[in-house]
Amino acid sequence: MNMNPKKKYDVIIESPGRINLIGEHVDYSGGHVLPAAIDKKITLSFTKNNTKTCTVYSENFKNHFDIKLDNLKRSDVEWHNYIIGVIFHINVLKPDTIKGFDCTIHSNLPLGSGVSSSAALECGVAKGLNELFDIGLTDLEIITVSKDAEHTFVGTKCGIMDQFAVVKGSKNHLLLLNCETLDHQLIPADFGDYRIILLNTNVSHNLATSEYNVRRDECNTALEAINKKYPQYTLLAQVTPEIIQEFKNILPQKIFNRALYITKENRRTLYAVECLKNKDIKGFGEWLYKSHRGLTSLFEVSCDELDFLVDFTHGLNYVVGARMMGGGFGGCTINIIHKDSCDEFINSISPAYLEKFNINLTPITVAISNGVSKI
Ligand code: GLA
Repeated sequence: MNMNPKKKYDVIIESPGRINLIGEHVDYSGGHVLPAAIDKKITLSFTKNNTKTCTVYSENFKNHFDIKLDNLKRSDVEWHNYIIGVIFHINVLKPDTIKGFDCTIHSNLPLGSGVSSSAALECGVAKGLNELFDIGLTDLEIITVSKDAEHTFVGTKCGIMDQFAVVKGSKNHLLLLNCETLDHQLIPADFGDYRIILLNTNVSHNLATSEYNVRRDECNTALEAINKKYPQYTLLAQVTPEIIQEFKNILPQKIFNRALYITKENRRTLYAVECLKNKDIKGFGEWLYKSHRGLTSLFEVSCDELDFLVDFTHGLNYVVGARMMGGGFGGCTINIIHKDSCDEFINSISPAYLEKFNINLTPITVAISNGVSKI
């Protein structure tokens, strides 16, 4: 394959990571989420090679692998499966459209950090192949094949938020997405004097995939029990917290907690958006703190490192809100910080984290950018 940087590629794609302001773990229950695409991204450079083999080279890992188009199967290496899975699902939708290609991948997105490097990779591959072979996939099809790849080849039964944000993200806007109907609105990302800073814990506890799927199952269990009395609900986020309370002594405590979290978090997203529209940044931040409390105590997807970082911000008057972000069990917190105090914040929280966990913290400043695009 051609690894010469001066070679002209047929198609170059930039595929961003995403943040999520609020609405965590509600996408697969049909709730509302508030993500955005960011300026940290994966760049994928494609060239047709007129064979039946695809060769993919990762500049970050400094290695490559081959995919035989007439024998697609799961790999033992996780990152390969994001790519093989997308090819597989495009083949299901549009058979025989993908021919051999070479692809070089470079990423400045931290892996396993809750900024969805996985969706960036999947959607970048789908978009690139769509352009390279003129397949005619719609944005929604790019989103769907990417999500399906993650379900069947990687094994995470994710919702649709990440892929949606990576494809539909828009510079300086948040995406208010209803994950039941896929209706979405662009909300100006106007935080006034406040900035978004991510803090990467640099831990990724290996519970992430297994517990993620367990949470999905627990939500389904709750819905099945609620359906015995209220058969009209098809998704857990359609249910109100008031109705969930009726099941307090019926559902096992853990299942009740999960359901209560989902229904409350869904509401929080809508309340938080109202605050943002009214330029009430402090009110917005309060919803983030409440979201974190729910993720910690009711949904139980946080961890000591994330909780430490959020707790540290309590009492700092230049922080209006903070919470864990993404699937949990490690990754990043998202923090809304006054623009004049960002350095002070990083300089005080980094040594405290190092002392507590003996791990370096990585602050990441993000700008809100456009979704996946051909350059
Ligand atoms: C991961 C999944 C998403 C979503 C988040 C939690 O990023 O891929 O679908 O469920 O976790 O909000």
